[in-house]
Amino acid sequence: MQQIQALPPQFFQTLKIQTILGQGHDAKVLLALETKDSGNQLYALKCQAQKIQDTAINLFNEIQILIHIKHPHIIELFGYSQDYTCLVLQYCPHGTLIQLIKSSPLPVSIASSLLYQVTLALNYMHEQGFTHGDLKLSNILIDSQYNLKLCDFGFARWNGKMAIEKQTIAGSEGYTAPEIWKPNPNYMKTDMFSVAVIFFILITGHPPFESNNPDNHDPWWNLIKNNEWDTYWKDIRTNIDQECKNLFVQMFSTQPDERLSANHLNQWFKLKQTTQENLIQEIKKRLAEM
Ligand SMILES: Nc1ncnc2c1ncn2[C@@H]1O[C@H](COP(=O)(O)OP(=O)(O)OP(=O)(O)O)[C@@H](O)[C@H]1O
Ligand SMILES: [Mg+2]
Repeated sequence: MQQIQALPPQFFQTLKIQTILGQGHDAKVLLALETKDSGNQLYALKCQAQKIQDTAINLFNEIQILIHIKHPHIIELFGYSQDYTCLVLQYCPHGTLIQLIKSSPLPVSIASSLLYQVTLALNYMHEQGFTHGDLKLSNILIDSQYNLKLCDFGFARWNGKMAIEKQTIAGSEGYTAPEIWKPNPNYMKTDMFSVAVIFFILITGHPPFESNNPDNHDPWWNLIKNNEWDTYWKDIRTNIDQECKNLFVQMFSTQPDERLSANHLNQWFKLKQTTQENLIQEIKKRLAEM
């Protein structure tokens, strides 16, 4: 495998910034153009937005993880600045999964094709002991060929540990599993919970609950937590088929062991997915509508 290295300051000085692609919790993501005799190249530069130690830790962690993983559905890291505050990433020109549900939720077959790709990447990571830690719609990008790429590895772990351990709870509210509030959760199972939240949002257009932080007493989460599924399905009044309902009951379980693994969920999505042709047609249609 090609070695990913720290790039000298001269590399960054020659780049021409085109626009801002995103502004997240940790960083600003910029579109940058490299002009070379052999042809121009676009990159996404993810750079520290504010000089806060926690954000520097996340970027350092992201570099350490991305150096070790390479997969068709994981964003490619080309290099990084010598002080570890800027990542040079493959540019994905079609935004994130958020763009696909702007006008309406997705049919189950389309959402399954998308999550088939996500769970392929996740199975690859989990098999090697890596976990993502912050799976959500805005951390799944669409590349130039309309393939999905996982991004944002600031909270990723290897064998349960980050490159530098922090005290703060990782992940994004509304996507994290309930056991994240307890010590030493199984991070593979917390990733699987987040995948189910993503699937729920894609096929309904809204989240399954607002928060499972015990301090927030979210009424939707209370129904899920207490296994009051009949009331839950009645109250949300969304058309979800029985097979999907059964999947959500299993994946949102407060018992992490009941949740399917990335490999098993990948098989589930494989059976439900549409053809590659349909998928690309639907993605193009939805991006054009924006
Ligand atoms: N390689 C890329 N190509 C195109 N756009 C990107 C790329 N990487 C990130 N973005 C855009 O920038 C946004 C923020 O990136 P990222 O999630 O990596 O940063 P973050 O600061 O860790 O985010 P947050 O804390 O909000 O999750 C993404 O949601 C996406 O819109
Ligand atoms: Mg993000």
